[in-house]
Amino acid sequence: MLKKLLSYFIPVNLVKKQSDVSQNLEVTLNYGQLVLDSKNTNYSYGSLQRILRKGLKYIGFERIKGFNNILVLGVAGGSVIKTLVNEIGYKGKITGVELDPKVIELANTYFGLNTIENLDVVICDAFEFVLKTKDTYDLIIIDIFKDTVMPAFLFEDFFINRINTILNINGFILFNTMTLNQQHKDRNTTYRTNFDDAYSVRMYPKVEDHNELFTIKKLK
Ligand SMILES: C[S@@+](CC[C@H](N)C(=O)[O-])C[C@H]1O[C@@H](n2cnc3c(N)ncnc32)[C@H](O)[C@@H]1O
Repeated sequence: MLKKLLSYFIPVNLVKKQSDVSQNLEVTLNYGQLVLDSKNTNYSYGSLQRILRKGLKYIGFERIKGFNNILVLGVAGGSVIKTLVNEIGYKGKITGVELDPKVIELANTYFGLNTIENLDVVICDAFEFVLKTKDTYDLIIIDIFKDTVMPAFLFEDFFINRINTILNINGFILFNTMTLNQQHKDRNTTYRTNFDDAYSVRMYPKVEDHNELFTIKKLK
């Protein structure tokens, strides 16, 4: 309680962990709210949760409620999963894929991720998961960072084609990217060209400064 009060004046760090994937992981109380950060950026809750909530709003909360199967690539503390379950009231199946077991330990201990009944967490590389899965999804949320760095595979044809194959018709991709320089902006412009008229692509620049969101609907 005291820590919560104090956190309105200064951020109160509760735990720090070393991680092979993200260097540092920290759980901090900030203005009474728990957030998960990596060395240089916010991973879960705080601004990251606001960014993905905006993306889900663009797709439409009512539409999302009607989906059956959602895939979340990059789970961290699970803030987008909390938005889906607690704010949208989504009751279908959620599969979360996360590379870093340490992040899942923190998510369970501090954010109660293991209490969400319609969630299955798979600890593995998202690239491998997408390659192997036989399931298809109505919504695929791609939110993969190693600290501030987005792995190159996210922008490569092979991964993009696999994602498109496992996405149901009338389903959506929500892709969170970071654009810190002109090279990143050009990378995103090129990314858009991977989708032909079977898809409706929207790009939302400058969501909370450095993030650029894509929503991609599969039309046929
Ligand atoms: C910004 S956080 C995800 C936040 C989360 N979507 C939320 O709503 O709170 C990025 C996550 O991607 C994970 N990650 C990085 N590379 C990955 C990979 N190849 N496969 C799966 N997860 C990966 C990191 O460990 C980190 O937990």
